[in-house]
Amino acid sequence: MIKLADTIQNLPHSPTLWANDLVHEKRSEGETVYHMGFGESPFPVPERLKKALADAAHRKEYLKADGLDDLTDAVREYYRPIYGDEYIEASDIIIAPGSKLILYALQMAIEGDLLMPVPSWVSYDPQAKMLHTDVIKVPTTLDDAGYHINPDDLRKAITDARANGQNPTKIIINAPSNPTGLTIPSDELPAIAKVCEEEGVLIISDEIYGLVSFDGEYRTCAPHAPKITAVTTGLSKHLSLGGWRIGVGFIPKGVEGLHNALRCIISETWSCVSSPIQDACAEAYKGHKDIEDHIQACTDIHALMNKTISKGLQAHGIIAPMAQGAFYNYPDFAPFREALAANGITTSQDVHEVLLKEYNLATLPGKAFGAEAEVLTLRLSGCDYDGAAALEAYQNGEELNEAFVQKHAPRVLKAIDIFGEFIKKYGQSAAEKAA
Ligand SMILES: Cc1ncc(COP(=O)(O)O)c(C=O)c1O
Repeated sequence: MIKLADTIQNLPHSPTLWANDLVHEKRSEGETVYHMGFGESPFPVPERLKKALADAAHRKEYLKADGLDDLTDAVREYYRPIYGDEYIEASDIIIAPGSKLILYALQMAIEGDLLMPVPSWVSYDPQAKMLHTDVIKVPTTLDDAGYHINPDDLRKAITDARANGQNPTKIIINAPSNPTGLTIPSDELPAIAKVCEEEGVLIISDEIYGLVSFDGEYRTCAPHAPKITAVTTGLSKHLSLGGWRIGVGFIPKGVEGLHNALRCIISETWSCVSSPIQDACAEAYKGHKDIEDHIQACTDIHALMNKTISKGLQAHGIIAPMAQGAFYNYPDFAPFREALAANGITTSQDVHEVLLKEYNLATLPGKAFGAEAEVLTLRLSGCDYDGAAALEAYQNGEELNEAFVQKHAPRVLKAIDIFGEFIKKYGQSAAEKAA
């Protein structure tokens, strides 16, 4: 009998893609579904990039494993003012079909187990499992000031894991974060970097949402630990180009052999990213004003939508720190735990299922992001609107306010109302209902 490998057999289907498939199925059956389950930025491809791709359509050659020089040179100069000369000179750049594969290749290249702050993105854990390594969870706290990793907790996770016979050698940190929509405050990054340096842990800084930062500040660990920080990023989020599959990695020269190892992985797997795509994407990194304005406009709209969601949920008494970046909210229904439990709702999966079955509201349970099953959190994506129409309206001078959300994203507002209905029905004790 032909059998699947154990690691693959036990992998659950990606929860994000599952939610998306289900929503499409319901919509194709004519149902109205409020989609907060899938985090895809809804904006159109900028004209300059469409033209660049058309102009590059004749390209058909394999490119070198690292990526097209024109692209890597442009990337280097684009990020120089953000990371500073020291990090730029201390790292090599690689190009991949999405940053997801760079994250995977980095996990593959570094021996040992993964430190994973919780909550964090859905793919880090399955990638570690596919590589037969352990995942060591690091606690975090969330509030209006951001997503916090306490350096003492990080150190303790490392020491406890070692005492337990595990070998923590790499950590993935991600800010602005999916699922929380929060960033790690800049003044907290040096202490995190210091622990990693002292403990010999590679920092993999997932900065795919780095430019979708609502206060305009780009926060990164790279300058604080240039010798041991790899950065992954790309164009999937701030330019809404997820399906173009282009990712960028900064690989620290300080980790001996790492760049070479990644080049080997590339040449034995994806060979190179499609040559027309690489050619066209160089234009995204040349600082053209129209591209920069586009990124800013999209970020402004994301900020409006996600802050509207935070405020709306707060008004219903749900814990929902004010969104700071990316396109997510990560509300916590802990204040309603008792009443929810009385209604048989005791896990994030339960909250998610009731919302989907009873209200046609798609979300993702916190459990998919590493939270314990009983932690009552959900990840909400604030992208369920027509991005092209919203962007055009904003570029034509419409103000970003409540009326804008009402006009361009009515489903987002309806979803907020649904949370109110849900709390009223399931989150109140009998006495509260009677009052
Ligand atoms: C936190 C995070 N990291 C990485 C990725 C991967 O993005 P891509 O492979 O499109 O670059 C995603 C995509 O959803 C993400 O949310």
